[in-house]
Amino acid sequence: MKAIVYTQYGSPDVLHLAEIAKPAPKAGEVLVKVRAASVGYGETAVRNFANISHREFNMPALLWLFARLSFGLRKPKNTILGSEFSGTVEGVGAGVTRFKVGDAVFGYRGQAMATYVEYLCMSADGLIAHLPKNLGFAEAAAVPYGALTALTLLRRLNIQPGQRVLVNGASGKIGTFALQIAKHLGAEVTGVCGTERMAYVRALGADHVLDYKHDDFTRGDVRYDLIIDVLGRSSFKACQRVLTPQGIYFPVSFKMPAVLQMLRTRNSKGQRVHLGMSDEKPADMTTISTMFAEGSLKAIVEHCYPLEEAADAHRFYESGSRAGNVALVL
Ligand SMILES: NC(=O)c1ccc[n+]([C@@H]2O[C@H](COP(=O)([O-])OP(=O)(O)OC[C@H]3O[C@@H](n4cnc5c(N)ncnc54)[C@H](OP(=O)(O)O)[C@@H]3O)[C@@H](O)[C@H]2O)c1
Repeated sequence: MKAIVYTQYGSPDVLHLAEIAKPAPKAGEVLVKVRAASVGYGETAVRNFANISHREFNMPALLWLFARLSFGLRKPKNTILGSEFSGTVEGVGAGVTRFKVGDAVFGYRGQAMATYVEYLCMSADGLIAHLPKNLGFAEAAAVPYGALTALTLLRRLNIQPGQRVLVNGASGKIGTFALQIAKHLGAEVTGVCGTERMAYVRALGADHVLDYKHDDFTRGDVRYDLIIDVLGRSSFKACQRVLTPQGIYFPVSFKMPAVLQMLRTRNSKGQRVHLGMSDEKPADMTTISTMFAEGSLKAIVEHCYPLEEAADAHRFYESGSRAGNVALVL
């Protein structure tokens, strides 16, 4: 079967088409004929991980070190990229009752990766769910990582109807779903993104959209109950002026100073810093599937590339000119 393989870290040029063996499902697994996979920050970062310093990495240096060891210090241990996929079930292993041949599915393999392939095997009890009828294959492949992360992180924040929520980084994988989940919970949501993606963020349902290249939300007059800062590009100090008296600053990406601020403010009755790590469970994929089926979430893919053109898709993603998501289709 066809696969996009890379054996060294580097630019999109390291991605090339190869023939590898088609897998067979073991007991408890499903064999999925992949219809689409996605290109995002995760895929481009892992492709070039040896060249990303701990300063460029948006999380504490210790996590960067763990990530380097787990992805491979000098060359990638897992030579096939891609964490998200959609497709149809082509075969099932012994004991699988949840899925049958022909079912449309989508799922997330996380650090196990290897979705840039024609076929993959996945535990039927893993992060995989039936594809809702109103979600296309390309769109579905752009959903799991961002939706699972946003769902599990926001669950702990008890967002209430009428609250004002700002998402700094609303056009990215996590931000698009943080914005939609906050809207679904009844919040008034402001999305902050780059100029090129303002229409995209508006189309996802943001009540207000700001361009981080021109508008500094920390200088505005609006007060927010919750500021979700996906890349941690702002700071608690800068946001305090625009947080309500009990407002929460939540940098999804954070460094050690934010950990200290979280510890310092955690019992505060006033403004505080919240931190969290995503902890997705298989049931969360089903929740996401249901939310799509009910029309509470949407996914927009603006750029599709054939699997064979994965290198071009990565180049395009890194050019910064994308409007919505970028998908590889088979
Ligand atoms: N806490 C956790 O458990 C957890 C889990 C997973 C990931 N993460 C972290 O989340 C981050 C990746 O998030 P993602 O996958 O959503 O990334 P992404 O898809 O690359 O999105 C990044 C977002 O940030 C925006 N942005 C870029 N520069 C900005 C700036 N100067 N000011 C404000 N916004 C800016 C981008 O806007 P434009 O594209 O419009 O320019 C985009 O909306 C990584 O740092 C990762 O470590 C944390």
